[in-house]
Amino acid sequence: MSINSRFIEYFRDTFFQDKEEEFEQFLTAIEQPIPRTIRIKPWHEDSVKSHLESDGWILDKTNIPRVYSMDRREDFDPLERRLGFSLDHIVGNFYIQELAAAHPVDILAESAIHEDGFLILDMASSPGGKTTQLTEYYPNSFIIANEPTRERIPQLLQNLHRMWTPNVGITLYPGQYWKKYSETFDRILLDAPCSGEWTLYKWTDAVKHWHIKNIKEIARLQTKLLDAWLHALKVWGEMIYSTCSLNLLENEWVLDAMREKYGQSFEILYQKKFWPHIDGTGGFFVAKIRKIASIESEKQGERRGTRNEKLTRYRWWIGDWQIDSKYELYEHDKKILAVSGSTEKIPDDIYFMRFGEEIGKKDGGIFYGDIWISRYIDTANIPTYKISTEQELDIYLRGWSIAADCSDGYILLSYDDTVIWLEYCENWEVQSTFPRDWQRK
Ligand SMILES: C[S@@+](CC[C@H](N)C(=O)[O-])C[C@H]1O[C@@H](n2cnc3c(N)ncnc32)[C@H](O)[C@@H]1O
Repeated sequence: MSINSRFIEYFRDTFFQDKEEEFEQFLTAIEQPIPRTIRIKPWHEDSVKSHLESDGWILDKTNIPRVYSMDRREDFDPLERRLGFSLDHIVGNFYIQELAAAHPVDILAESAIHEDGFLILDMASSPGGKTTQLTEYYPNSFIIANEPTRERIPQLLQNLHRMWTPNVGITLYPGQYWKKYSETFDRILLDAPCSGEWTLYKWTDAVKHWHIKNIKEIARLQTKLLDAWLHALKVWGEMIYSTCSLNLLENEWVLDAMREKYGQSFEILYQKKFWPHIDGTGGFFVAKIRKIASIESEKQGERRGTRNEKLTRYRWWIGDWQIDSKYELYEHDKKILAVSGSTEKIPDDIYFMRFGEEIGKKDGGIFYGDIWISRYIDTANIPTYKISTEQELDIYLRGWSIAADCSDGYILLSYDDTVIWLEYCENWEVQSTFPRDWQRK
């Protein structure tokens, strides 16, 4: 299949008039695979790097902190497991994220980790690459990860769980709905639904169906979403508008439409388009905006939400476990949730389908902790069982039990210097409770 002629015409006329050579470079670049990059969690950089390097990967720093480009060493074992199945990935020590896609949050946070307790809205969040990045840059804030497309929720849930995100709640509202929450959020990320030109190299539908009519339709939705965030952002709050597209309609023109409507109320602090042939990334657009004056709210209609009212607060003991006091504990529908961040800033009528992280269940008055609970308790007095070979690890990650030299009771399972999580030892055997969805097949 060749590139859609409407796409070629639009891009040549709009961006590359009298620049035929550059246009050819652009067309060649969009057909190349995007270089593979990963984002490593703060405090795990050294260990993850050394594990991956010993697996045959070459890691190079990029211009974003903790984001590395990855290449395979010549002697890379082709039978080596996929990056996604490595233990560090499974326990959430890194996220596979394209370099351009790592820019919006980095630009919002100016590459720094912030101690402030903000309320942050991630208006279009699945699969959660940028939500999990927000938790790394804003560990004391509470982040609302909003995603209205139901089919995209399981992947978001899985990534949030894997990356350990007690300061995130998921909501399912269409982005436009947030307009009703006038001047509520300190920071907003709108990584807008877009036409996806950057995925051209994969020969996806974006290529086949590129048509200015579709682009106009998407741009109309983007303008509505941007309008909503401008209302929802606090004065002096900052936000990012980003898309995975390069055309004018979804980017510069959406900002122009906002300028026309609310020009006195915001300033653009930063704006950049990432071009595949110049930046070596996928195509991407990022703008950072600060709200500098209030916007009069139009008549807004009713807010529909009601807060999950059956949340019961706990102190920090649950069953046998003492939970670190930096987490709040809640019970909802028999689930026990650990939550952190500036929850006091959340409006009362927001309904969450996930609120913080589930750490176990309470049934008949008895608490059954999940393996995840090891992330939230003081583990100093729990014995560690070290898995000693890759083979034994593989058996465990396939969900089978391993023979282990341990006494009956809870143990922390580890491999190399990575703690996996809590398991139970009985009769010199550890029954793997490794989540079925994540098991090696
Ligand atoms: C570019 S993706 C987001 C990627 C995500 N921020 C990440 O970094 O992993 C855009 C998302 O917007 C969602 N979306 C579609 N319509 C929307 C709407 N009206 N309001 C909010 N989000 C919407 C899509 O389902 C999609 O998940």
